[in-house]
Amino acid sequence: MQKALVTGGDGFIGSHLVEALLARGYCVRALVNYNSFNSWGWLDNVSHENLEVVAGDIRDPFLCDSLCKGVDVVFHLAALIAIPYSYAAPQSYVETNVNGTMNLCQAAVRHNVSKFIQTSTSEVYGTAQYVPIDEAHPLQPQSPYSASKIGADAMAMSYFYSFGLPVTIARPFNTYGPRQSARAIIPTIISQIAAGKAIIQVGDLSPTRDFNYVADTCAGFIAIAEAEKTQGETINIATNSEVSMEKTLDTIKRLMNSNVTFSVDPERIRPKDSEVFRLLGDNAKLVKLTGFTPSHSLELGLQKTIDWFTQDTNLRRYKTDIYNV
Ligand SMILES: NC(=O)c1ccc[n+]([C@@H]2O[C@H](COP(=O)([O-])OP(=O)(O)OC[C@H]3O[C@@H](n4cnc5c(N)ncnc54)[C@H](O)[C@@H]3O)[C@@H](O)[C@H]2O)c1
Repeated sequence: MQKALVTGGDGFIGSHLVEALLARGYCVRALVNYNSFNSWGWLDNVSHENLEVVAGDIRDPFLCDSLCKGVDVVFHLAALIAIPYSYAAPQSYVETNVNGTMNLCQAAVRHNVSKFIQTSTSEVYGTAQYVPIDEAHPLQPQSPYSASKIGADAMAMSYFYSFGLPVTIARPFNTYGPRQSARAIIPTIISQIAAGKAIIQVGDLSPTRDFNYVADTCAGFIAIAEAEKTQGETINIATNSEVSMEKTLDTIKRLMNSNVTFSVDPERIRPKDSEVFRLLGDNAKLVKLTGFTPSHSLELGLQKTIDWFTQDTNLRRYKTDIYNV
């Protein structure tokens, strides 16, 4: 049985990945962020005989070392990810995203792991200079978050070149679905409509995104880990399509039978040069190396997300009355 370590197992994508790996017969060690509430985040209600939950912090190299012991494949997802918060606390992004990745790579080398999947993000590309964005597109650090992920990816890849660590950089485009933080646009809109708001504050609605349903992103991760010729490669996880925020919000409104009004709040407009206006990912390399293609249309993924958020027990976990940075 393959043993997988998932960092960020308490988070949105990580918790879905843990469940997908368990369903596929993996033995999983999941790292959740240490906290005094003993909260395991989205893993609080997941129990399985092949799941081991460890609380810790990737900024600690000793902790990372013990995490990698006996592990075959590392899925490294733990990170600080909110762009607005990276304007306020950039140093913590370097410490968690760059240093934390280095700590894990170091530990993975020492324990001879056979695959190390580094989670990147389409944010590293910045606004598209051409579409679809393939893996050769220039990197543009338009936010401290993006810069820290560029640094993290480079650090991981340096362990491939310097120490032979079998690293693959998996680069998902925007991912959405059940359990996502309300910092992100799709959950913030769905949760506020579900909570009965008549007017919802939004930022710029003109940018486009390549939205991926979380189950597809996780299946992409697993396909990359299980394929043979992915070591030393950077691989987009994308749908090859784009949609504007405005159209996405209109689709949500329609699917929820809502007549809510969207109102632009200047506080949510990003500094002009920091806003990423266009993301449309080329997934040809993913298809070629793994045979994987996503199976959710935007409409299907949004419907599943709405079904989850509109359940009272789920909605109650969200603070729909504040701006979640
Ligand atoms: N959500 C997206 O659209 C998207 C798109 C592309 C890439 N990604 C990447 O996917 C990964 C997961 O993102 P997510 O959307 O699930 O976000 P998330 O915030 O839900 O998950 C990140 C997890 O990392 C954990 N974490 C943060 N700092 C830590 C630390 N110092 N030590 C241990 N754990 C720590 C948090 O507890 C959190 O659960 C991230 O690497 C992110 O950059 C996300």
